[in-house]
Amino acid sequence: MKILVVGSGGREHALVWKLKQSPLVEMIFCAPGNAGIASMATCVDIGADAVDELAAFAKKEGIGLTVVGPEVPLSLGICDLFVQQGLRVFGPSQKAAILEGSKVFMKDLLRKYKIPSAFYETFTNSKEAHQYINKIGAPVVIKADGLAAGKGVIVAQTVAEAKEAVDLILEDKAFGEAGSKVVVEEFLCGEEASFIAFTDGKTVLPLPTSQDHKAAYDGDQGPNTGGMGAYSPAPVVTEDIHRQAMEKVMLPTIAAMAAEGRPYKGMLYAGLMIDKGEAKVLEFNCRFGDPEAQPLLMRLESDLLDILNAVVDDRLDQVELKIDPRPTVCVVMAAGGYPGGYEKGKVISGLDDAARHQDVFVFHAGTALNNGQVVTNGGRVLGVTALGNSVAEAIDKAYAAVADISWQDCYYRKDIGRKALARNEVK
Ligand code: AMP
Ligand code: GLY
Repeated sequence: MKILVVGSGGREHALVWKLKQSPLVEMIFCAPGNAGIASMATCVDIGADAVDELAAFAKKEGIGLTVVGPEVPLSLGICDLFVQQGLRVFGPSQKAAILEGSKVFMKDLLRKYKIPSAFYETFTNSKEAHQYINKIGAPVVIKADGLAAGKGVIVAQTVAEAKEAVDLILEDKAFGEAGSKVVVEEFLCGEEASFIAFTDGKTVLPLPTSQDHKAAYDGDQGPNTGGMGAYSPAPVVTEDIHRQAMEKVMLPTIAAMAAEGRPYKGMLYAGLMIDKGEAKVLEFNCRFGDPEAQPLLMRLESDLLDILNAVVDDRLDQVELKIDPRPTVCVVMAAGGYPGGYEKGKVISGLDDAARHQDVFVFHAGTALNNGQVVTNGGRVLGVTALGNSVAEAIDKAYAAVADISWQDCYYRKDIGRKALARNEVK
């Protein structure tokens, strides 16, 4: 079968890498891809958001399955378009992808179906939002309703900061139309985990648990990013939390979406906050996490194409996942300045040396080829991912490979996986 993967990040490199292992896969295209993907698939110069062009390409090439990585094409309705044209595609419909595309929709759904989450109110008027902030106090979380490339969430430590965030979104329109509404939400304490599952709309088949590192700097300091590293499993998700995540979050959400006439198929990613033995939903994403896809797919032993086909054909109940019991750790190497402004086009050295490490794979994110050299082409540049017999070993292996790689102004966190180590020691 010919496959098309849509996207250009570390997540898409991991998808291509894993799909390539399937004996059912004949050829992989990736639109638009990156330098790492280009070494194992045919990159096509079509943007991930150019949904009409992607459909035309899939038709022309006789693509058997298209796998959509990022959220924007899903929100634009890429899956609906493909289905209308008789093309097989993995991902939720536009009506279902609203679970990530609108935080107001998501919060209202959770409230209606009593799925645990932070309390909140929604506003279009900044004065009313200010009054509510005065009432509930700080810390408090301000969220633009729509997609804002991970930047639309502001955790405000003071009332003044919260009001500024509201004004930034509603008055200054910093996120354009995505900010025509804001959610003002209770600040939740605790430790975060990512709970990511395949679903065909009936069966929910979870991947192992994982944990992202959203903050830019060590010790969870600094601004939020798309994710500076991840590991799997996340020991904060105990057996009891796992049961809660399935019974109180994932299954009720799938049932709620069906009841709302928005049957959900694809990946369902719940961002959970775990505190005092209870899990609450922070967010839903309608796709694989990035960087979580990298440590997760490295642990997946089953044929990924088999699973994706089972989702598309509504027979996920017949699938069981085979998972490598060994933990994985992914360290993201980023361009200096990210998540703010950063430069592109820096030559990356040491990739061949890093590739020689056993049980390590260097997934590319923002990279490109320039005159035969691999250069930086984005904020998050590489996801160096390692498998170990313990978390400690996986951390050491990942950082040993990281040490081989460099470019001007390269930046990475030095503490990826430390929380898992601390929890494992407590056990
Ligand atoms: P979201 O895109 O909604 O997950 O928000 C991005 C990040 O902001 C989360 O991963 C959390 O670190 C933080 N965050 C979001 N909502 C809350 C909340 N209610 N309480 C505390 N932190 C939050
Ligand atoms: N790692 C967070 C996300 O994919 O949204």
